[in-house]
Amino acid sequence: MTTNVKRIAVLGAGTMGHGIAQVAAQSGFRTALYDLESSLVEGGVSRIRANLAQGVERGKVSAEEAEAALGRVDPTTDLEAAVGDAGLVIEAAPERMDLKTSLFRDVSALAPEAAILATNTSSLSISEIARAAARPERVLGMHFFNPPYVLKLLEIVRAEQTSDETLAAGRAVAERMGREVITVTDSPGFATSRLGLVIGLEAMRMVEQGVASAEDIDRAMELGYRHPVGPLKLTDLVGLDVRLDIARYLDRHLEGARFRPPEILERMVKEGKLGKKSGGGFYRWK
Ligand SMILES: NC(=O)c1ccc[n+]([C@@H]2O[C@H](COP(=O)([O-])OP(=O)(O)OC[C@H]3O[C@@H](n4cnc5c(N)ncnc54)[C@H](O)[C@@H]3O)[C@@H](O)[C@H]2O)c1
Repeated sequence: MTTNVKRIAVLGAGTMGHGIAQVAAQSGFRTALYDLESSLVEGGVSRIRANLAQGVERGKVSAEEAEAALGRVDPTTDLEAAVGDAGLVIEAAPERMDLKTSLFRDVSALAPEAAILATNTSSLSISEIARAAARPERVLGMHFFNPPYVLKLLEIVRAEQTSDETLAAGRAVAERMGREVITVTDSPGFATSRLGLVIGLEAMRMVEQGVASAEDIDRAMELGYRHPVGPLKLTDLVGLDVRLDIARYLDRHLEGARFRPPEILERMVKEGKLGKKSGGGFYRWK
């Protein structure tokens, strides 16, 4: 499958945005990386630079490829400059519906008519986000995994409005990015977040109830069930705030109490224990 997309714009340069931009640039796409402030964009670019340097050190990428990829990243705080000539826009802003719909409204007015608009949301309704866009049939979910330059899975989510052409275009870009694609119909939490969160929230309740330490709960899943990373360490990597937002959303939109956020999660987020990005969560991080 070939793609007509030449330029990609990634909106949000945080945990996911910088990683998605890196994958796009390494796959040969000219890639704009946008965030609200230049310190945030520069932070994202520094992380890409560091990841690529590590890749060179480990022999996964040549020094020339790393330099060329970095050269394809255009950092910007100007939304129009970011999306003005993009064939594909990938939004990786915080997990809030109001923020995403407002961004899709703005981007619709600034991006080329033919551009495909994708969201990296982990749980929110793609159909609702699509309703905010001028051309809802060109919207789809492209849910990358953390970190995108290591995990190849891409969950493509089809909204009610997504056209066959948009879906095919999303798949073609995914192929060029070397992704393993699964396709899911839009529903809260899709396939991955819904299943992953059930285990994550139950693990937190077990810590809360003193069933076992975080380390031992993680080891149970790593050694007993061959999960490469235990559910609590994974929560630290994803960000406790991000997981709390998803839990609240799924709790509102799916029946039963299984997604009700555990008290320990609410408390830790309130205390600023957000996981790896804040230096501590269920584990301490340097
Ligand atoms: N963290 C994960 O493991 C993970 C995995 C898959 C998907 N996601 C999803 O990706 C999205 C981003 O999550 P994250 O963990 O990267 O969050 P993050 O908080 O690390 O980064 C979000 C970035 O978006 C920026 N931002 C805020 N408002 C913006 C706006 N109006 N326009 C553009 N950028 C804006 C912030 O300044 C920040 O740099 C969320 O929808 C999340 O659910 C996260």
